[in-house]
Amino acid sequence: MLVVLKKDYDEVSREAARIVAGAVRSKPSVVLGLATGSTPLGLYRELAALHRAEALDFSQATSFNLDEYLGLAPSHPQSFHHFMEQNFFSQVNLPRHRRHIPDGTIQGDYDAYCARYEQAIKSAGGIDLQILGIGRNGHIGFNEPTSSLASRTRLKALSRETIEDNRQVFADEGEVPRCAITMGIGTILESRRVLLLAAGRSKAAAVAKAIEGPITSSVSASALQMHPDVTFLIDEEAAYSLTQRDYYRHVLEMTRLLTPERLS
Ligand code: F6R
Repeated sequence: MLVVLKKDYDEVSREAARIVAGAVRSKPSVVLGLATGSTPLGLYRELAALHRAEALDFSQATSFNLDEYLGLAPSHPQSFHHFMEQNFFSQVNLPRHRRHIPDGTIQGDYDAYCARYEQAIKSAGGIDLQILGIGRNGHIGFNEPTSSLASRTRLKALSRETIEDNRQVFADEGEVPRCAITMGIGTILESRRVLLLAAGRSKAAAVAKAIEGPITSSVSASALQMHPDVTFLIDEEAAYSLTQRDYYRHVLEMTRLLTPERLS
């Protein structure tokens, strides 16, 4: 596990964009796992800038988003479809037919739908690079606390904390989602490489539990400790509660010196 400490959110975003751009350049047919939320906004902004300025080419790439709220149509301003369109897809040349986001409008037959989403990931060759944010409760995707560490894409009831967080952004109380379709922790762990981004003091406790705490279904992100190629890219505020910051800096220095390809 690599823990990369950056000064602030902008540095986290630029470094994340450098890693994603590197993955796209070294494998144009890369399969990206994408996240929504406030954290990856800077990454998407940087990638869009690289597309414009340096012709970073997504024309052969494929993407799979982690999750979508149940009950929201793609046109809903709070849907993850809408988010991705606004903040990324409309700015780059990733072909529409190779973008995948769980469908929040399905009604019934959830298991069959989710099995098809899993199959689509497999058919694309698996996810090469999975981008993650982290919830204040340690969730990745919408794998709320107590999610099975072996879980697959499925319908998931949202936690009270997540519903509360969302309440602020939904104008109509009746629209606040109670459930989501999300990739499972098992699905995420099958990605070849994982890049988790976190910024801000509100994430410090979750980040510390994920990196230094025991592996537990109470903190979904702690399952990443079992992944052979995971990078936590976090700013100083999100790193606030980590006890081994000096060691992570030393590991990074040695990695730069001895195995720099791990950082590309
Ligand atoms: C979003 C997702 C969530 C978010 C997490 C953090 O697709 O899967 O796990 O990454 O809730 O959200 P922000 O970045 O808004 O703090």
